[in-house]
Amino acid sequence: MSEFLTIENLKVHYPIRSGFFNRITDYVYAVDGVDMHFEAGKTYGLVGESGSGKSTIGKAIIGLEKLTDGKIIYEGEDVSNSASSRRSNYRRNVQMIFQDSYSSFNPKKRILDIMAEPLRNFTNLTIEEEKRKASELLEIVGLTSEALVKYPHEFSGGQRQRIGVARAVALNPKLVIADEPVSALDLSVQAQVLNFMKRIQEEFNVSYLFISHDLGVVKHMSDELAIMYRGRFTEYGSNYEIYHNPQHIYTKRLLSAIPHVDPNNRKEHRQERLRVEKEYHENASQYFEESGRVYDLKKINDHHQVALKEVGFAHREEVK
Ligand SMILES: Nc1ncnc2c1ncn2[C@@H]1O[C@H](COP(=O)(O)OP(=O)(O)OP(=O)(O)O)[C@@H](O)[C@H]1O
Ligand SMILES: [Mg+2]
Repeated sequence: MSEFLTIENLKVHYPIRSGFFNRITDYVYAVDGVDMHFEAGKTYGLVGESGSGKSTIGKAIIGLEKLTDGKIIYEGEDVSNSASSRRSNYRRNVQMIFQDSYSSFNPKKRILDIMAEPLRNFTNLTIEEEKRKASELLEIVGLTSEALVKYPHEFSGGQRQRIGVARAVALNPKLVIADEPVSALDLSVQAQVLNFMKRIQEEFNVSYLFISHDLGVVKHMSDELAIMYRGRFTEYGSNYEIYHNPQHIYTKRLLSAIPHVDPNNRKEHRQERLRVEKEYHENASQYFEESGRVYDLKKINDHHQVALKEVGFAHREEVK
């Protein structure tokens, strides 16, 4: 198996402090027990509404957030602890692209320096080698070496995201975490950036953790999908299973919220949406614990898990 990264029972709880003594009075269960398995060259979509805990998962994996509980196993070794001797190798192999690379790039630095930053942190290339490497990377995302002497503000939002993608793979990492990488862009530009991400993936055999609040965006990107609600996964499975055989009402709600482009189906789409809303409001107790917490995931088949109290036989069409 080509699984290189395993996330086990990941929890991140933020303390809420209040009162005169600033004592901890409660916790936000931002991430409350999730498991993930990453294989080489695949895209994992992570979808859920605002505040469901998506970015917190990304930050915890990359080491920007301390784990309350759980483990991160990279190539068979526990790297959850920042003192781990394998940590630097792990950091090199897990990179991140942000939603808004304008604010994550230093505006006073030229693109060469921005691109070379990861290289300078982890390798000993000469300035000539750096330039060559940066030009090669830019070329893959459709830019020329002329970009190297320019500054971030001289590029469009889409171009900056392409530069962000190129920089993220400079060290040939195993995983790139992309947190809403195209959400700030116009639709036509979104498609373009996604295409470059796919091309980069083919070239580098990199895996993506693709975070989005929009199922429509990850649909064309993901091999596997995790649907997140209140810090837990309501459903996890292959792209096919999630889109064609959704089981949890929360997944169905997200699916029915994808805008429909075909005007002939608009009426049916609206009816389906109303039906799902009704089911959600009338039968919520079937889908959530009494406290409102999402149940533990249970296996339906080899490609599909759902968080229900019990799962019976679930209808399954032949997978492509
Ligand atoms: N540093 C923090 N301290 C306290 N609570 C936090 C902190 N960071 C995030 N949270 C809370 O944790 C929960 C999950 O936040 P997170 O940013 O992971 O959500 P998200 O799914 O990425 O949302 P969005 O789609 O809006 O980006 C939210 O309730 C948020 O308010
Ligand atoms: Mg977020």
